[in-house]
Parts: sequence; structure tokens; C-alpha cells
Amino acid sequence: MSPRLSAWALALALVACEDKRSGRAPDASDAARDASDAARDASDAARDASDAANGAVTPDSSEVPPGSSDVASDDASSFVLPESSDGARADASSDAARADASSAVRAEDPDGGAADAKPAWAFDCTDASAPKAGKSIGHTSVVFKVELASGKKAAWKPNAKNVKGRYKGEAAAYRLAEALGIPNVPPACVRAFDARAAAAALAPNAAAAKLFADEAIVEGGKVYGVVIPWIDGLSFWPLEREPLRSEARAWLAAGGAIPPAKLELARQASTLVAFDFITGNWDRYSGENVGLDRSGSRVLYVDNDAAFMELPPKDRLTENKARLDATARFSRRLIARARALDEARLASVLGEEAPGRPLVSATVVSAVARRIAALVAVVDAKIVARGEAATLYFP
Ligand SMILES: Nc1ncnc2c1ncn2[C@@H]1O[C@H](COP(=O)(O)OP(=O)(O)O)[C@@H](O)[C@H]1O
Ligand SMILES: [Mg+2]
Repeated sequence: MSPRLSAWALALALVACEDKRSGRAPDASDAARDASDAARDASDAARDASDAANGAVTPDSSEVPPGSSDVASDDASSFVLPESSDGARADASSDAARADASSAVRAEDPDGGAADAKPAWAFDCTDASAPKAGKSIGHTSVVFKVELASGKKAAWKPNAKNVKGRYKGEAAAYRLAEALGIPNVPPACVRAFDARAAAAALAPNAAAAKLFADEAIVEGGKVYGVVIPWIDGLSFWPLEREPLRSEARAWLAAGGAIPPAKLELARQASTLVAFDFITGNWDRYSGENVGLDRSGSRVLYVDNDAAFMELPPKDRLTENKARLDATARFSRRLIARARALDEARLASVLGEEAPGRPLVSATVVSAVARRIAALVAVVDAKIVARGEAATLYFP
């Protein structure tokens, strides 16, 4: 079995476990998606077998099925101010409120909030625009690559029956990352699109239209979900595979050597462990959920839809805690921001997805606030044991 196929078998096993945990029986649409994953992965096998294990894994362009030329081009398109829906307006206005909450956190940041340079995303959440064409990306959750009315390309994760409510995790992760000064999470913007217009946009692509009809959850004529700027040149950083797995562990361990050229990546790997611990994301290491941008120097924390869950699988959160415990080195800036984010501020940072409709429940806000406090407590204990310079090792 090629490394890629064995990784695929492992991924299938994980999907099966996930189904067990959520009490959802795997169904025919899973089987169809798995079959399409298998076909794609088989075609990847030859190339992936030759990957330098520490190198980036470039996603196969065949992830986007051929035949939907509307969104096939990766040319940059000029941005046109979009017509906004009510949902989009609500999102934009609550973005402004959240920006205030984030700057309040920054204002109290003892490190002065000198943040990383932000990547140039194709759009942020103050822009709103509905899909005009799209195709499905065969994957475990319901994801479409769409072209928006503005001409921008995006990944669209609508609220869907097999991953109900999980789009919220993407938006919450982005909002929290902004407040913590983490520039590694692509903007995930809540949108409530008119269901009929969305279905019409997907209609030319039979597979996409069927997936949408079968899976999308329609509420009062709208489909909630998130749009995320399409990342051209996204590749994957296989942190879950050897030898990178062991290398990265050594970077984050007490006294471990970090080659100077890897220092920035090590810092981002450390912050990823802390971030996933806080958000309760238990699905980071199932394959292709740690991205790299085109430059290869910025880690992209993609696929956050297993974060901020009402009932996350406890055993997987225990694994996150073990990863945190095994991490000796943290970003000073991140920990300063985390200290400043109490539950009230956190609630305001996470905000609403529409007026009067909080993005996540009070239960989830409290759980995340408890994990922020737990992160700070773990770091403080390490500072007592090993000293501040060794623990707050990264800027
Ligand atoms: N914003 C994006 N830009 C480029 N590719 C994306 C983007 N979002 C998703 N993809 C592609 O779609 C795949 C599935 O998306 P992901 O968010 O990981 O969903 P899933 O929960 O199904 O794993 C990714 O592995 C990646 O290849
Ligand atoms: Mg994924």
C-alpha cells in the first residue's frame, strides 16, 4: 500500500470513528464521497510517494472536478462592490463590533500588540457577495468552490445535514484568531444566502446541484454557511506524518534544537497547538488540514469546522491537552493576548451571525473561555518550572 493510500485508509477509519462519536451512521452520500476521495487519492499516489516528507504536499487540481469552467480559472478578477443580502449586512455590521472588541484586547496587550504582517487575502468579511457559479469539492464535509457575483473565488461551506452547524466553527475560529493576533486563519465569513438563488447558481453543475439539494439546510428560505477566500497555490504541510511530525515535536520540546531557517515555522506550529486546544478543534491531524501559503513560510490553519462544537469528542480533546502538555515553547505575544481575553470579551469577539442570533451558544463561549484560562495556567506552570525565557521562547 502506498503511503498515500495508507493515509487514505487511516482517514477513512477516522471518518468512521467520527460517525460513531456523533451517532451518525455512514450513509450513501458518505460512500459516494469516499469513493471519489479514493479515486482522487489513487491518482495522487505516485506523486505523493515521491514527496520529500518534510516538504509541502500540493493538493491535486483534480480535487476540483473538471467540467465547470465558470470557476476553473485562477486569474485574479477585479473586485466589484457586491449587492448585499440581509445576512451579509448583518455580518458586516457585527464585524465592526467585533473589530472594536479585538482592539480592546489589543489595547491591554502588555506586549503592545505588535502583530505579524497580515496575508493579502482576496477578500475579508466586510465584503459580501453571493455565488454565481460553483462546483463541489469531493471531500468529507460539504464544500463548494464558487465564483461570487463580485468575481472573487471562494470556498463555500454551507450548513449541511452531514456536518450540521459546523460552518460556525470556521467563522468563530477566524474571529478568535483575529482577536488573538494570529494571522494564520483565512477569513471565514458568515453568509446567509437565498437558497433558491444558490441552487440556481449551482444548477449547471449536476454534481454540485445534487449535493446542495441533498445536504444543504434551508432556514426560512436561506442557507447559512461561510465563504472563505480561495487560496491559490495552497499546499499542505504534513505535520501528522514522519519525519516532520518528530521534527516539529523536537522544535517545541524543552531544549530541542530549531534550525534558524525553521524558527518561524516552529513558532506557527506552537501557536497552532495552543489555538486548537482553545477552540477544541479535534480534527487537525486527519490529513490536509495544515496548509502552507505559496511562499511556504506561512502556515495556514485551514479547516476549522471541527472547532467550537457543542459536544466535542472528549477523547480527542484529551489528545489536544496532551499535545499542549508536550509543548514547552510558546509565543509571548499569543499568551499576552490570551491573558487579556476574558469571557465577556470572548463573547463579543465571537459575536453574532445575524442580529439576535449569537454565532455560538453561551455554553460554547464558556467552554472556550475555560480552555483559554487552562492554556494560561499550563503556560504559567511551565514558566515556574523552566523560566520565562525558555517558555515564552517565541516572540
Ligand atoms: N479556501 C480554500 N482555498 C483553496 N482550497 C480550499 C479552500 N478551502 C478548501 N479547500 C480545498 O478543499 C478541501 C476540503 O476543504 P476542508 O475545509 O479541509 O473541508 P473538509 O472538512 O471536507 O476536510 C481542502 O483540503 C482543500 O483542498
Ligand atoms: Mg479538511
